[in-house]
Amino acid sequence: MQPLFLALSYFAHLVATVIWIGGLISLTVFVWPETKRVLVDSPAIYDFLARLRKRFVPLTNFSLVVLVFTGFVQMSANKYYDGVLKLDNDWSRLLLFKHVAIFGMVICGLVLQYSVTPALERASILRERGKGDAAEWEKLRKREIRLTWVNVSLGLAVLGFTALMTAL
Ligand code: HEM
Repeated sequence: MQPLFLALSYFAHLVATVIWIGGLISLTVFVWPETKRVLVDSPAIYDFLARLRKRFVPLTNFSLVVLVFTGFVQMSANKYYDGVLKLDNDWSRLLLFKHVAIFGMVICGLVLQYSVTPALERASILRERGKGDAAEWEKLRKREIRLTWVNVSLGLAVLGFTALMTAL
């Protein structure tokens, strides 16, 4: 494979990693805790969190597409790769574990995007109008935070398996 093409693939793979995993860690460690401290009694919290979701989610979906495409490029170019589900060396077994962790991240993302977020945004609109159930909003918000922390843990596992692969 052309070294320049492989280098471009690694570059895109790394940028997509920074956007997705970096974004998840920035949200959970910095943005959300400070948002809660500053906007705890302000109805602006609902709109602010909704805007963050609307900007971050399309970026994570795009990053996943880039990671899968460039991942297959890198996989097919790697000396340890012996074919689909050929797990005859440590590298390919680590790549399988990496894929299992990525699959977990995709499932978390789908539950967030198609179950938690729509319910949370409906509850937010009601809360913004001074209606709705504050406890219901808190419950959904806690579910969003919990699932995102699961995604952060799985993302760190992906990086861990990758580090072991790269060291081989
Ligand atoms: C959440 C998704 C993913 C993340 C965060 C991720 C992250 C990374 C990182 C940081 C590297 C190191 C690049 C370097 O050494 O410069 C890498 C390498 C690699 N990734 Fe991924 N990746 C993801 C998904 C995938 C997928 C879906 C595949 C395969 C289909 C894949 C296959 C590879 C391969 C083959 C390498 C090279 C490993 C080596 O040098 O031995 N990755 N990945």
